[in-house]
Amino acid sequence: MTHPQLTIVDHPLVQHKLSLMRDIATPGPDFRRLLREISLLLAYEATRHLPLTRRTITTPLTDMQAPMLDGPDPVVVSILRAGNGLLDGVLDVIPTAKVGFIGLYRDEATLKPVQYYCKLPPDLTGRLVIAVDPMLATGNSAAAAVQLIKDAGATDVCLICLLAAPEGVKCLAQAHPDVRIVTASLDSHLNEKGYIVPGLGDAGDRIFSTV
Ligand code: URA
Repeated sequence: MTHPQLTIVDHPLVQHKLSLMRDIATPGPDFRRLLREISLLLAYEATRHLPLTRRTITTPLTDMQAPMLDGPDPVVVSILRAGNGLLDGVLDVIPTAKVGFIGLYRDEATLKPVQYYCKLPPDLTGRLVIAVDPMLATGNSAAAAVQLIKDAGATDVCLICLLAAPEGVKCLAQAHPDVRIVTASLDSHLNEKGYIVPGLGDAGDRIFSTV
């Protein structure tokens, strides 16, 4: 499947770490560390288009016009609870980002998202807003979260996910064609329970050792 807004980060470090994460034998602490490391690398791709300006700085040798980030600080929105597994790695590379949280759980009967929490920074205008959720499965939760983010004024929204299913990409692209998706892998399909195949299981359970 192709979607102009989909970026699959095929960097060898990302792919190696992802394979370790998929392995059922990888213990929770390793899984969490690997997710943090990959999220840093995915954030690198997601922020590639941030504008730069030139400011005068003084090196030990001379003055120079140095490139610096321009515009308001980005915002990172963690889609609870699994999004928290990506949050710290993204903040490692964008330490000045503001942070929001959206609480959605998946109704296991309908696979539709149910909102139970939403706390976003007050001013999203002109900011890059990066939503983070490890698994883009049906896409229903991501589409609902992006809608809340847009309702709060954001116009530049990107989703970082570790894995994407074709069904999730299609759903999000239909609801929000402008939203960029940055992922480490586009997997095969969803199974009858809405899990990504081959996937890595329940990301939240593996991050927080609740299995
Ligand atoms: N959520 C998960 O944690 N894993 C999946 O495979 C799909 C949704």
